[in-house]
Amino acid sequence: MTAGLIFDHFLKKVCPPLDLDWRKYRRASQRKVLARIQELGLTGFSDYVRYLEMNQEEADALPNLLNVTVSRFFREKALWDYLGSTILPGILCRIGSSRPLRVSSIGSCNGEEPYSMALLWKSMLQPAFPGLELIITGLELDQSCLKRAAKGFYSGKTLREVDPGLLSAWFVRESGGYRLKAEVRRMVQFKKFDLLKNRLPRDQDLVFCRYLVFTYFHGQRRLNMTKKIISALNQKGILVLGQKEEPEFPEKYLLTPVSQAFKVYQPE
Ligand SMILES: C[S@@+](CC[C@H](N)C(=O)[O-])C[C@H]1O[C@@H](n2cnc3c(N)ncnc32)[C@H](O)[C@@H]1O
Repeated sequence: MTAGLIFDHFLKKVCPPLDLDWRKYRRASQRKVLARIQELGLTGFSDYVRYLEMNQEEADALPNLLNVTVSRFFREKALWDYLGSTILPGILCRIGSSRPLRVSSIGSCNGEEPYSMALLWKSMLQPAFPGLELIITGLELDQSCLKRAAKGFYSGKTLREVDPGLLSAWFVRESGGYRLKAEVRRMVQFKKFDLLKNRLPRDQDLVFCRYLVFTYFHGQRRLNMTKKIISALNQKGILVLGQKEEPEFPEKYLLTPVSQAFKVYQPE
């Protein structure tokens, strides 16, 4: 059996009891599991399966060990155009200057998603709604992602959906990539955060939860996390999922589509 097939076999065994979708984990997850096996002084995947069966704490930590950290700026560009032209102006008209707009990105990775929100604000919303305020919170489990977000240095594919105008206005070219200007970096407050354990900020106007709960989680885990996210939204709050994601039974009964095409929802 190839290394990939052995890892698939391992995933098929350990993921279902944890309500995780085994098909979604990639090479990077395999490397992390192998490093953990080595750290524990075990001999291989079968040995690690036995270890997981005997150690509840290790099993509880497995979703975070398998964790995939892939993102990019303005991922699924058409969604951002829709948010900037329709959804966010609607919220801003409603709340006016009574308070800041509150946006959170759950699983904010290296900052690509919350910084895209900041760039959308700078380029489309601030000029149309001068004087209004925005609070963006980036919530992320992975410490190295948080460090990269703080540095704001990006290269390659991560920037492929950024408009050239935005790139030249808000990034500075450096050797090997581009650094986001401090003025934009300061707009996002990042927090080390575990969705499975920590409390979410309350009263949010818009929450991004893309390619996390609705990609990797199943069953009770997904239902519990959906309820948790819904409780972070205010009455007319908006939940944004990834274009390849779909609320299924039973979560779909907790969410009403605002746009089925863009995977934008409101609590039922
Ligand atoms: C596949 S990436 C998606 C990033 C971004 N939302 C996007 O759609 O481009 C999933 C992110 O969620 C983070 N993550 C995974 N489990 C988490 C948890 N329990 N709490 C917070 N963040 C988590 C990962 O570290 C990773 O950065």
